[in-house]
Amino acid sequence: MQLQQVSALQFAPVKAPAVPKLVVWEAFDPDDPMTKAAGELYEETLPADERIPWAWIERSIRERVKSKPRTNGWHKHLLLAAPENRQDDPGALAGYVYGAFLPGYGGYLCYVGVAESARRLGVGRRLFDHFFKVLKVDAGELGEPLPFVIWESHRPEPDAPDAEWEVWAARKRLFDRVGGAWIDGVNFLSPNFSDDPDAAPVPLQLFLKPVDTPETAFTAERLREVVGGLHQRVYRNAPGTALYDGTLPPGCEPRLRPVE
Ligand SMILES: CC(C)(COP(=O)(O)OP(=O)(O)OC[C@H]1O[C@@H](n2cnc3c(N)ncnc32)[C@H](O)[C@@H]1OP(=O)(O)O)[C@@H](O)C(=O)NCCC(=O)NCCS
Repeated sequence: MQLQQVSALQFAPVKAPAVPKLVVWEAFDPDDPMTKAAGELYEETLPADERIPWAWIERSIRERVKSKPRTNGWHKHLLLAAPENRQDDPGALAGYVYGAFLPGYGGYLCYVGVAESARRLGVGRRLFDHFFKVLKVDAGELGEPLPFVIWESHRPEPDAPDAEWEVWAARKRLFDRVGGAWIDGVNFLSPNFSDDPDAAPVPLQLFLKPVDTPETAFTAERLREVVGGLHQRVYRNAPGTALYDGTLPPGCEPRLRPVE
């Protein structure tokens, strides 16, 4: 009798723990505790020289509440993610993504971060996918296509600690999974946002997801336009400035390559 009970237990189907449903929404209130939690996650997960002050992002959320679709300017979005029924619990914030649709150019994903406790659960992927959809709606409101979404990432130095290389591996895998391609042949020189006025520019790798424009249309010439456009539209660097010319020197032949 006892034996029978043991074997019944052994063969009972093992119930996997339920993974809570993830909810993604747009932040409109910079003073909301969830938005504040996103600010903390942002500062914890990104080095100072790669990030703008969080106050600038708060300001853009405040402005967004008033804005209507505009054919100039940026359509900025901060999206947050948390498990269902915990959207008011700052300790449960799973991640955020921040970026914009730039009319006449394309999409630009500025920053993304996932809480340590929520990593490798598909949160990063969900945030990217949701962000792409939001930008598609922005473009649609203006009757424009969304040719691509572009984003930057800092590759660790060869002697960087293992932890940095691990995050780089996570980024690359994520970028690949969301349909991104690497723009090979370009070191994008971006301004250094640290407090040191003499700090060197930060070299970034660029990644692009073709959306309404087919991947084959991103020839070297088109990619130079896209990269130059990023300098001009986002960083206000015109041709002839050190960062623009350092990024696109004569003979630069960018091409899309698989991320991995
Ligand atoms: C990079 C980051 C956003 C990934 O978020 P995430 O929610 O863990 O990613 P996902 O769970 O959606 O995973 C996407 C893919 O990457 C893989 N992945 C995630 N972490 C990984 C790791 N440490 N090593 C290898 N692969 C990893 C996942 O397995 C998944 O691939 P799969 O679908 O083949 O299984 C997260 O690690 C992070 O916030 N890092 C710190 C901040 C940062 O680097 N931001 C990006 C700045 S550009």
